[in-house]
Amino acid sequence: MAQEKKYNAIITAVGMYFPDKVFDNKYFESIIDTNEEWILTRTGIRERRILENGGTSVLATNAALDLMQKHNIKAEEIDCIIVATVTPDMFFPPTACLVQKRIGAVNAWGFDLEAACSGFLFAFQTGSGLIESGQYKKVMIIGADKMSSITDYTDRNNCILFGDGGAAVLLEPIEDKNFGLQDSILHVDGSGEVALHMKGGGSLNPPSHETVDKKMHYIYQDGKAVFKVAVKGMADVSVELMQKNNLKSEDIAYLVPHQANMRIIDATAERMGLSRDKVMINIDRYGNTTAATIPSCLVEYYRAGKIKKGDKLILSAFGAGYTWGATYIVWAID
Ligand code: COA
Repeated sequence: MAQEKKYNAIITAVGMYFPDKVFDNKYFESIIDTNEEWILTRTGIRERRILENGGTSVLATNAALDLMQKHNIKAEEIDCIIVATVTPDMFFPPTACLVQKRIGAVNAWGFDLEAACSGFLFAFQTGSGLIESGQYKKVMIIGADKMSSITDYTDRNNCILFGDGGAAVLLEPIEDKNFGLQDSILHVDGSGEVALHMKGGGSLNPPSHETVDKKMHYIYQDGKAVFKVAVKGMADVSVELMQKNNLKSEDIAYLVPHQANMRIIDATAERMGLSRDKVMINIDRYGNTTAATIPSCLVEYYRAGKIKKGDKLILSAFGAGYTWGATYIVWAID
């Protein structure tokens, strides 16, 4: 039998960072054979932000600093930093270490976690475990990706989808089990490798002239194949989590979906019986920022005063691997 947890993990602070440079749909008309209307109707994306200088640690560090400034959190209070990313600055050191140094979190340990577009959910689960055990009091979860660094801007099927961004949440313990992480269902299925991968640059295909010539250091995605499994995977797991927790549509304040394609988001919401006003959306302004999509939605809706204490949220994602899952939380702060 599962042991009774001492604490629940709640989100007590949020922060985000998106760079200033914008690639709008018009820009893509100038570099590939496409048009604004096609991109908007097929994906729901109007524009994305692009980081010109520096790596993902810039996005992650600025998101962390924004969180600390807005919520008056001192760097030395942070016990652990988990950075979810598929675009670390370098293979090593971990991006979490670069963030730790730059924000001055002298008492923190930390690591990177790679689970593609499900990265934030997997990191949230991992960080919550550290809190629930009672061993740590402040765990920062950052989702950050510089997708422009692995995007082939001559591939019209994919380059329109992605953008750069970072967002962070702080997890802290609470004894009241009515708040914070309530439940989750998480999955991986390695058969997804075929349809979505980046084959070059790792230990399988170390960088060489050949890997560069063959464009193996860019995202490869069979969009149609991924679309089909993503729609089913995200909707199925979200509905399963609702049923498991006896949640009806009217109980849910918001679906917080990974922002890959507006049509995937709409299909998931429809299966859950939720209208558009109960779905967090920012894909129109940022595109798919991989690990940053879900936390950046939380930041924007919280700051707009749209999330209230006691609100029940279902976070849901699908990504490369395949990795996917849904997480049920009750918002704990005003
Ligand atoms: N502009 C104009 N036309 C484009 C285009 C673009 N940027 N990109 C592709 N097309 C063309 C295709 O070549 C195809 O032409 P063809 O029929 O002559 O071959 C046509 O548009 C339709 O392509 P299709 O694949 O049917 O489009 P779609 O409705 O599946 O949308 C995606 C394409 C990529 C937007 C969609 O498949 C998608 O979002 N996939 C999953 C993304 C995702 O969730 N990924 C990651 C999980 S994290």
